[in-house]
Amino acid sequence: MDTQKSSKFFVGSIVIFLILFLVIKIILASMLDVGKNAVTPESMTDEDVVERIKPIAQVNVGAPPVVEVAVVATAAPAISSAGGEKTVKQVCALCHRTGMMSSPKLGDADGWAPRIEKGIDTLYANAINGFNMMPARGGNASLSDGDVKAAVDHMLSLVK
Ligand code: HEC
Repeated sequence: MDTQKSSKFFVGSIVIFLILFLVIKIILASMLDVGKNAVTPESMTDEDVVERIKPIAQVNVGAPPVVEVAVVATAAPAISSAGGEKTVKQVCALCHRTGMMSSPKLGDADGWAPRIEKGIDTLYANAINGFNMMPARGGNASLSDGDVKAAVDHMLSLVK
């Protein structure tokens, strides 16, 4: 009786051990598989991330002019140096960023020094009315005197 019991116990524990072993093996194997399928962060570029998290549908506003009108409306009231910066970027930088046609370059103190000597009012007037190859209002007639002056102010602030 005793030997029968203990041999049953022996066989039983081996079976339990085998089952446990198999279960652990399956768990480990599935963990490895998960690791294989997962996309590791290093392999994702910023574009991938943006692509993944971007909204499924995007609203098509369809009327860009409406947005522009809003921007102009907020920018118009104050002739601030911020407005000047915008004008410089949108109009004046075309020539002055690269020094095209030997225009004084943005931020080039040496290029601007002889201009500044003429006095701010002359610079305003020449920017508004034109001066040699410098077109009146930078070639953009829709700019007001104030816009042009603000742009000149911004240009000068870059070489101060
Ligand atoms: C088409 C090219 C062009 C654009 C656009 C342009 N400029 Fe000029 N600008 C010039 C050139 C060229 C000169 C040099 C003229 C000279 O000294 O003969 C110049 C000179 C100047 C001067 C110095 C004038 C002086 O008396 O020495 C000022 C100030 C100036 N530009 C302001 C502006 C402003 C402000 C804008 C934008 C609203 C602008 N420019 C857009 C070409 C341009």
